[in-house]
Amino acid sequence: MTIDFVGGVKMQNRLKYWLLFAVMLTLALTGLPTAQAAFEDDEACLMCHKYPRMGRVTQDGVFRSYSVPPEMFSNTVHRNVPCRDCHNYIKELPHRPVKTGVTCDQECHTKKNPATGKPFSHKPVYDLFQKSVHARGKIAEGLDANKPYCISCHTNPLYNPNQTEPPKKVVDRCELCHEKLDFVTQWYSHTSRRVLEVKRSGEEIVALCSRCHSNEKMLERHAAAAEEAGEPLGEKFLIAAKSYEESFHGKVTKYGLEGAATCLDCHADQENYYRGVHGILSSRDPESPTHKNNRVKACRQCHENADEKFLAVDPHPSFDAKYNPVLHKAEAIYGVVGNSVVVALIGLSLFETFGRRRDGVGWRIRWGSTWWRRSKRNRKRIIPRR
Ligand code: HEC
Ligand code: HEC
Ligand code: HEC
Ligand code: HEC
Ligand code: HEC
Ligand code: HEC
Ligand code: HEC
Repeated sequence: MTIDFVGGVKMQNRLKYWLLFAVMLTLALTGLPTAQAAFEDDEACLMCHKYPRMGRVTQDGVFRSYSVPPEMFSNTVHRNVPCRDCHNYIKELPHRPVKTGVTCDQECHTKKNPATGKPFSHKPVYDLFQKSVHARGKIAEGLDANKPYCISCHTNPLYNPNQTEPPKKVVDRCELCHEKLDFVTQWYSHTSRRVLEVKRSGEEIVALCSRCHSNEKMLERHAAAAEEAGEPLGEKFLIAAKSYEESFHGKVTKYGLEGAATCLDCHADQENYYRGVHGILSSRDPESPTHKNNRVKACRQCHENADEKFLAVDPHPSFDAKYNPVLHKAEAIYGVVGNSVVVALIGLSLFETFGRRRDGVGWRIRWGSTWWRRSKRNRKRIIPRR
């Protein structure tokens, strides 16, 4: 296998790595472009990875960046996690090409969970996710590859995107006792992100889910495969995103109102919202908040007086015969009635026009009326004002 580095160098694997290692090392030692990292780069990964244009062109001709700008990384929520706690497949330098990638369920070697004393890990989130409707492995093939993985929904986020610096007054106060500014700044960012509820807006959640749930071709493939396997997907599976847009909640959310139900308000268990978003279940699952027995509870979060009758309002409304035969027929009947009324009205005015023309009543605009002038047959259909 040969891989093109940015410079277009093509070599056999091992030699290539060593040569690159040497080049990078020289660059690092001669102190060419260096940036002061605000975190500890114990493993010296940034010696190579700090370079902005580092990357390679894939076999499909796409440039894939391998650059990790230290100034940026040091403002992200993972800045204190050493590179190899996540990239744990890198066992030697120079390293071999990646097969699996970061699975997000590894144990941190360096960070302990202060509450449990155990090595920190996102494994509880991962385990929950693997029981959800979106369960899949990091490397997924076939239909599974259409489902989201952690990095489909998460980047490595900046702490408080709207706040470049922690408020001076707050950290000054912390510093008074803790004596070290970087300690308190770091803890301020860590907690304030959650206290300030830095999270997706309603519109962003709808966009996140709709990215896949409005992709008709992809959804049809899943529906067909599930049908074949004898475990059909939910009734509203094919129209979920489109029909939500038609609903009252969808319309007001689109106009920027926060507080109307978004996908996750109904589909995520609200016992702990942040856990719930990772454990979405099908509406056929009795544990799901969208299961018919649990729906009243889901609506009651916001509509205090909701009862069984309230459920008649479909959160995924559709006029399609397949989903809602009654509404479909009602709409068809309204259609016929509506059209007949329009046709009848036009017909009546044509009759009237024809009759007036025959009477010789002329078309002219005067004194607020269009039809006027004495009729030839003197029928005085319209009496002109004098
Ligand atoms: C000597 C320079 C150098 C150092 C030090 C270095 N890397 Fe790399 N890294 C590279 C090069 C060159 C590539 C591109 C390899 C390729 O295209 O196959 C790369 C690629 C990668 C990739 C992507 C690989 C792929 O195939 O997608 C990851 C992830 C990575 N490095 C992580 C790290 C981590 C973590 C460390 C620290 C433990 C580290 N690197 C240290 C030079 C370095
Ligand atoms: C919190 C975990 C985490 C930490 C810490 C982390 N990374 Fe990554 N990194 C990822 C994930 C996730 C990806 C996306 C690729 C994947 O899913 O495997 C990635 C991608 C990369 C890539 C591109 C690889 C590719 O295949 O496209 C490079 C290079 C890289 N990281 C280097 C680093 C370096 C250097 C550090 C330390 C300064 C670091 N990473 C710290 C999780 C992490
Ligand atoms: C379908 C999208 C989706 C997938 C897939 C997903 N998440 Fe999430 N995650 C969310 C949403 C939505 C939130 C709530 C915060 C927000 O709105 O940004 C969240 C929150 C989190 C949080 C809390 C972050 C904080 O700042 O408090 C963690 C940690 C997390 N996710 C980890 C993971 C891990 C690990 C995986 C993979 C096993 C994963 N997520 C997969 C959508 C997703
Ligand atoms: C009046 C003095 C005082 C102020 C002001 C103060 N702290 Fe503390 N902080 C302490 C003491 C004392 C402890 C140890 C408390 C204990 O163990 O019960 C502590 C503990 C902590 C810890 C836990 C550290 C650990 O490893 O267990 C963090 C984090 C922390 N403070 C952050 C902050 C931040 C951020 C601020 C500003 C918003 C702040 N503190 C303001 C006195 C203060
Ligand atoms: C990356 C694409 C993708 C994203 C993003 C995504 N989904 Fe899905 N979702 C799928 C696929 C594909 C399936 C079908 C799984 C199958 O075939 O079993 C699915 C299945 C579902 C199901 C179960 C369908 C059934 O009948 O069992 C629900 C409910 C669901 N998703 C809700 C959501 C919500 C809510 C969000 C937003 C937080 C979301 N999805 C984000 C791709 C996605
Ligand atoms: C007000 C609550 C509510 C909102 C908001 C909502 N849903 Fe649903 N959703 C439901 C209920 C209840 C069902 C089951 C309906 C049925 O089968 O008639 C359902 C069914 C579905 C299904 C079919 C799979 C299943 O579990 O039956 C998918 C997929 C889905 N919703 C995705 C979404 C997406 C994506 C959004 C946001 C764009 C969204 N929903 C917004 C309540 C809601
Ligand atoms: C996260 C909060 C939330 C949830 C959960 C929720 N709604 Fe709503 N809903 C709203 C808001 C906000 C409005 C707009 C209220 C207004 O301005 O009148 C609304 C409006 C409505 C309306 C139209 C106006 C009205 O007040 O009659 C209906 C019908 C409705 N929701 C039905 C439902 C049903 C059925 C469920 C459960 C499946 C549900 N909602 C769950 C927040 C929510």
